[in-house]
Amino acid sequence: MPGAVDLSVNIGALRLANPILAASGTFGYGVEFAHLLNLNRLGGIVVKGLSLEPIAGAPAPRLCETPSGMLNAVGLQNVGVRAFVAEKLPALRAYRTAVIANVFGYTVEEYAGVIQVLEDAGGLAAYELNISCPNTAHGGIQFGSDPRMVSEVVAAARHVARRPLWVKLSPNVTDIAAIAQAAEDSGADALTVANTYQAMSVDVRTRKSRLGRITGGLSGPAIRPITLRLVHEARRAVKLPIVGLGGIEKAEDVLEYLIVGAAAVQVGTANFSDPAACEKIIADLERACRRANILKISNLIGTLEADCT
Ligand SMILES: Cc1cc2nc3c(=O)[nH]c(=O)nc-3n(C[C@H](O)[C@H](O)[C@H](O)COP(=O)(O)O)c2cc1C
Repeated sequence: MPGAVDLSVNIGALRLANPILAASGTFGYGVEFAHLLNLNRLGGIVVKGLSLEPIAGAPAPRLCETPSGMLNAVGLQNVGVRAFVAEKLPALRAYRTAVIANVFGYTVEEYAGVIQVLEDAGGLAAYELNISCPNTAHGGIQFGSDPRMVSEVVAAARHVARRPLWVKLSPNVTDIAAIAQAAEDSGADALTVANTYQAMSVDVRTRKSRLGRITGGLSGPAIRPITLRLVHEARRAVKLPIVGLGGIEKAEDVLEYLIVGAAAVQVGTANFSDPAACEKIIADLERACRRANILKISNLIGTLEADCT
C-alpha cells in the first residue's frame, strides 16, 4: 500500500495543511466559492484586498484575455474592512482553512488603520500587505517600488500587527533583492512573490485600450518563468519564507516554485477558467509526490541543483 504523503508546510510559525492557497482578488472573500469546491481542502485563502473605506473600482471593461494570460484593471474594488469583518468573516470562520487578509492603502496610515480594525476580529491566520499600490503622499509612486517606502509601510504595519505579516512584492522593480531586504529588515514574517506586471492591450479596429483604466496587470501562465526567477532572486536575498505565485495551473508548476525556494504557493488566474482549480491541483500534487516517492513535500523546498548540466 502506498504511504500517505505529508503535504503540510510551515510559513514561519503558521502551519498549513498543504502548500496551496487561493490568491487575492481571484477568489472573492472565499465564501462565494463554497458551493464550487471543498474550502476545507485548501491550504489557505487570501481574500480580496481590503481598504479602510469601500471602493467601487474601475470602469468596465476590467478584464481581457492575452496570449497565455489575462489583463485586469479592477481598481481594487472591495467592501471595506469593516463590512468584511461584519459580513464575510463570520462565514469563513466555519472552515478550518487558514484565512489571510490582504491589506492595502494609499497612505501608510491607511495600511495601519486596516490592520487595526482586523486585530479586533477573530478567525484570521495572517496579514498580506499588497504594496503594489500608489502612495498618494508621494506623488502616486508605488510603495513597492522604493526600498525606503517599503520600510516605512512594513514598519507601520508591524507596529500594529500581532499576527504574522506577509509582504506581497511588486514584480515591477529593477532590484527585487533590495525590496525583499527592506521588507525583512522592517519586520516582515514572509514574502509573497509576486503581484501582476504592468501591461496593456489595444483593439486596433477601435484604437481603444481593451481596459477601462487603459493599463492593467498581466497574470497567468505567461508570467510564470519571469516570476519564478524573482522567487529565486528573493530567496537568495533573504532568510524569510517565500510564498510564490504567478501562472500556476498544475501540480508540476507548484513543484517548480517549491524547488526554487517557495515554501507555499498561491493560485490566481487559474481560478477563472476552473473555480475548483486549487482543489484539483492539491489532489494532483499528492499523486505527483507519491509517484516521485516524495513522502514529505517540505523536503523539496529550495532543492534547486546549482549545476544545470
Ligand atoms: C482580477 C484580479 C484581481 C486581483 N486583485 C488583487 C488584490 O486585490 N490584491 C493583491 O494583492 N493581488 C491581486 N491580484 C494579483 C493576484 O493575487 C496574483 O498576484 C497575480 O494574479 C499573479 O498570479 P496568477 O498568475 O496565478 O494569477 C489580482 C489578480 C487578478 C487577476
